[in-house]
Amino acid sequence: MAAGIDDIALYIPNLYLEASDFAEARGLDPAKLQRGLGVEQMAIVDTNQDPACLAANACLNLMQKNKLSPEKIGRLYVATESAFDESKAMNSYVIGMLEQVYGNESFGHCGGIECKFACVSGSYALYDNTNWIRAGEAEGQNAIVVVSDIAKYDLGSSGEVTQGAGAIAMLLNDNPRLLAFDPKVTSTSIKNEYDFYRPFGKETPIVHGQYSNLLYLIQVKNALADYKEKILKTGLVTLKDDETILDHIDYLNMHLPYSNMGKKALAYLVRHEWRSLPRWKDIIAEIGMEEPVPKDPRGTIESVLADAEFMAKDHEFTKLFTKTEKYAEVYESKLASSLIASKMVGNLYTASLYLGFRSSLEFEYQKGVDLNGKRIGFGSYGSGASAMVFSGLVQSEYEEVVKDMNLEAEIGVRTKLTLEEYEELHENKRNTENNIHSAKKEFILTDVKTSPESRGERYYEYIE
Ligand code: COA
Repeated sequence: MAAGIDDIALYIPNLYLEASDFAEARGLDPAKLQRGLGVEQMAIVDTNQDPACLAANACLNLMQKNKLSPEKIGRLYVATESAFDESKAMNSYVIGMLEQVYGNESFGHCGGIECKFACVSGSYALYDNTNWIRAGEAEGQNAIVVVSDIAKYDLGSSGEVTQGAGAIAMLLNDNPRLLAFDPKVTSTSIKNEYDFYRPFGKETPIVHGQYSNLLYLIQVKNALADYKEKILKTGLVTLKDDETILDHIDYLNMHLPYSNMGKKALAYLVRHEWRSLPRWKDIIAEIGMEEPVPKDPRGTIESVLADAEFMAKDHEFTKLFTKTEKYAEVYESKLASSLIASKMVGNLYTASLYLGFRSSLEFEYQKGVDLNGKRIGFGSYGSGASAMVFSGLVQSEYEEVVKDMNLEAEIGVRTKLTLEEYEELHENKRNTENNIHSAKKEFILTDVKTSPESRGERYYEYIE
């Protein structure tokens, strides 16, 4: 049975911080943000927004554009790493908000949970719900998977340049117009790690940025190796000599904590895949430099990062490699369009990969490419750490959905924050009513109870 993504909707907060303003305030070269990391703007939440109302707004957009009534929804999962309760699942708040629009108990039949594994949990939620459909349990109903996050790092930390906020809601069913997932190929890797984590009660994560960059690459590479074995076994792809699995994936979407991480990941994976192929000889000749190896090739991530000579040489080699004609063609055709939205919005943690997918569909379609039958690969990564690699085929009805995609219009008119406003919001110095953006046709947070018997209860309102 086919199963996959029928439609996709987003909600991005209207407030944003301009990267150049941020760079000036922190004494950074704006080029580091814009060229080095690929960050142009970062979406920031208002005082009356939290990850649950971002998720509910994305869900409502999805349901309204598809004229879906609640009885058509059998599962509603929320994947997030911005949870604000240790027990009550975020999807229960989302259901509560949606019922303000669709009627009390209108979602009473609907199941679902909140999923957590840093930025990869949305991919696990998609996989599990796809299998619910494949197993025949959905009986004609749809599942909604919402990925929603507020990427917030400490003021003045190196992660502060990689913030953002937003939610993506995906409609899954057995007759998807957009993408049907390839069966029996989804591959995972997992390892107990401390590259990025957020202990109980802490609003911002503890991050080892460079460590997490390298761990991401290794974990995705491991999952890709498994994916390759599986897809060859299914017979969906057969490889000729001098071919790699990446030659059979038309588009690649990578987890994007900042858009240039997608570039880093693609270069790493392509290097890894091409290294053993005859074409590598020509690449090395074009670069004019042998590929460097660490002093201790079997060492740890720490030992590789501490090997300054190797790191510098590898940086130089990567730069030259990405300039080769063969690689540049792969980058332009398979990845570039997926990075556009991330530059405008910033880091969405769980939703970053799917914002990239949306971006790729919209901007490839605008180029006039016929996407029907194209294979789309996904490289999902969550700190802590797990990666998931999977793929799907664009379906013949995709145009019905993609022709109306317009990222700028869907984000709406944006308000640029001053550094002062941003810092006040960041440090929670404004109360809920002291918002900047005037909400319209969306859910907002109106109250968080503080009395001992109802501490943490959250109340939301739909603003007409
Ligand atoms: N002009 C142009 N580019 C510049 C520059 C300048 N003036 N200064 C630096 N850069 C480039 C660097 O060369 C580097 O590019 P490269 O990766 O291609 O080499 C890039 O900008 C980032 O610089 P770097 O020195 O690595 O930044 P950093 O030490 O401040 O850390 C992160 C960057 C991403 C590690 C940090 O922001 C972070 O911890 N983020 C949160 C965690 C995260 O996103 N992890 C990712 C995996 S999930």
